[in-house]
Amino acid sequence: MVPVADPCSFASFSKCLTKHLNLTYQVDFDNHVLKGKVALTVEVLEDKFSVLTLDTKDLKILKVSANGQTAKFALGAKHSYKGSPLEITLPLELSRGQHVIVEIEYETSPRASALQWLSPAQTAGKKQPYLFSQCQATHCRTLVPCQDTPSVKHTYYAQVSVPKELVALMSAVQDGQEPDPNDTSRVIYRFRQPVPMPSYLIALVVGALESRVIGPRSKVWSEKEYVDKAAFEFSETEMMLKTAESLAGPYVWGQYDLLILPPSFPYGGMENPCLTFVTPTLLAGDRSLSNVIAHEISHSWTGNLVTNKTWEHFWLNEGHTVYLERMIGRALESEQFRQFKAMGGWKELHESIERFGANNVLTNLVPSLQDVNPDDSFSSVPYEKGFALLYYLEELMGGPEVFMGFVKSYIQLFAYSSVTTQEWKDHLFTYFKDKVDLLNKVDWNAWMHTPGMPPVKPEYDTTLADACIALAQRWLKAKDADLVGFSEADIKQFSSHQLIEFLALLLVEDPLPLSHVKRMQEVHHFNSIANSEIRCRWLRLCVRAQWEEAVPLALKMAVDQGRMKFTRPLFRDVYNVAKFRDASVKAFKEHSATMHPVTATMVAKDLNVEHSTGL
Ligand code: BES
Ligand code: ZN
Repeated sequence: MVPVADPCSFASFSKCLTKHLNLTYQVDFDNHVLKGKVALTVEVLEDKFSVLTLDTKDLKILKVSANGQTAKFALGAKHSYKGSPLEITLPLELSRGQHVIVEIEYETSPRASALQWLSPAQTAGKKQPYLFSQCQATHCRTLVPCQDTPSVKHTYYAQVSVPKELVALMSAVQDGQEPDPNDTSRVIYRFRQPVPMPSYLIALVVGALESRVIGPRSKVWSEKEYVDKAAFEFSETEMMLKTAESLAGPYVWGQYDLLILPPSFPYGGMENPCLTFVTPTLLAGDRSLSNVIAHEISHSWTGNLVTNKTWEHFWLNEGHTVYLERMIGRALESEQFRQFKAMGGWKELHESIERFGANNVLTNLVPSLQDVNPDDSFSSVPYEKGFALLYYLEELMGGPEVFMGFVKSYIQLFAYSSVTTQEWKDHLFTYFKDKVDLLNKVDWNAWMHTPGMPPVKPEYDTTLADACIALAQRWLKAKDADLVGFSEADIKQFSSHQLIEFLALLLVEDPLPLSHVKRMQEVHHFNSIANSEIRCRWLRLCVRAQWEEAVPLALKMAVDQGRMKFTRPLFRDVYNVAKFRDASVKAFKEHSATMHPVTATMVAKDLNVEHSTGL
């Protein structure tokens, strides 16, 4: 097989492969530094091998050795987002098939983009500091020198020393703890991850964490203030795991725990093996946002077991995961519910493509990431164009049961490896060998390598959406004189999913008149709704209608929580109204120093604000 290059990595993975990583960390909350030591077990793929290149970013490299002998090393020039290649010259020459253990002593930077260090004041408990990581896509290199590419998979073992009041967790199975022999005020937590996985799934959290059992293989972890609410909110976890197993095959990671992070966590969820990380904005009180859990559970197969070879094939991770997430919704709710969610996804795709521009190559399903930071290209496109392609193929090939047969065989065939879109497509043609004529009629180039909306628009069942569409149309058509006709009863029968859909339908249209949003507040009191998906869309509608009073509420939501899905559009919408622009920039500047490093960088770009990361 021809090795595929990863444009986001400097690591030379055609020459050697990391098999295992043995990590030791001492977490220093005073200096915001991890003092690290890593031993990489590397398999050599070529003869006369003596030079190895690893990814690093903002790391201080103190010492390198190979099989116990000191090795020479040099850090290359720093690339803006890729970091610096670490070139290690081994004191020995190796042949194909041999292994070498490369040991590196180093320190992370206080500005490591994978980490957020929170002061006690930024936590729920207010007494202890907190640290969490987020490595996807290319931030692991700020935590460990490694082959930071999803094409390489390895196991890991870790020992983490933390102040004894705190608990450390990683994306692995817990392997006990012991007092730190070097410091009586500290404890060492041990972890093992026996399933090979890509570097971006390494994760660490340290804080005043507590847990509650929510299933035979699941606990929820969080600061004690959130634990009970989380246990209620995510009580469907085991049911979802069982459903996922019935669809995709056995769950191989042993434990499936959930960690509820502080509000600045930049994503809805992150599928860290054995320990999914989630935002507290899912704590709606009615389990209505649990699809994010179904999504992260699904990544246990598509993403963590079968992994995109490079970030250019990210749709393989996210498209299949959204597909499985919605199949879980179908099993636990109904087919109509799946269709309803799929329709909502199509609108999200629309919004993303409008924002990037329909000619922007970053809206290709398979974009080139040559000189593109994956954080900049992140959007709903790989999720929803990917889902739309899979749904289109599902209909073409004979329906959900038939197509799940393919998805399951794709998972079985490529488990424990990393794949390209071409390999996925080859398997599709092999699996449906009797339907190749139909597959050959698919406009593959339009789906995969052309910007803008997909070439085919799916027809989804509108049963659950009809009431949302009808009410949205009434508001859009209403003259001021018609506003008295709206009443509380209009949404009485709506589920929170339908409320979200109703607001989403209004958001894709031109801004509503100010009179309309004011009347909407009068009849529905949306300002007092806490559900994050509803609140975000509502406040965006108000800001677009130029309702002055909504601006502080929108900016408050943008900074009180830091999930980029909410924070970025809220800041952007305020910024896009000329008379509110200064308020958005001011709010950002006031908070940027305590925001998550990736969120702060992205919002700064959105608002055209200079933002120094301090390096
Ligand atoms: N793996 C992603 C989050 C991610 C992607 C982090 C790329 C960094 C880089 C996660 O599984 C995800 O997709 N989360 C979504 C959930 C939603 C689609 C249900 C989110 O964060 O909102
Ligand atoms: Zn995902």
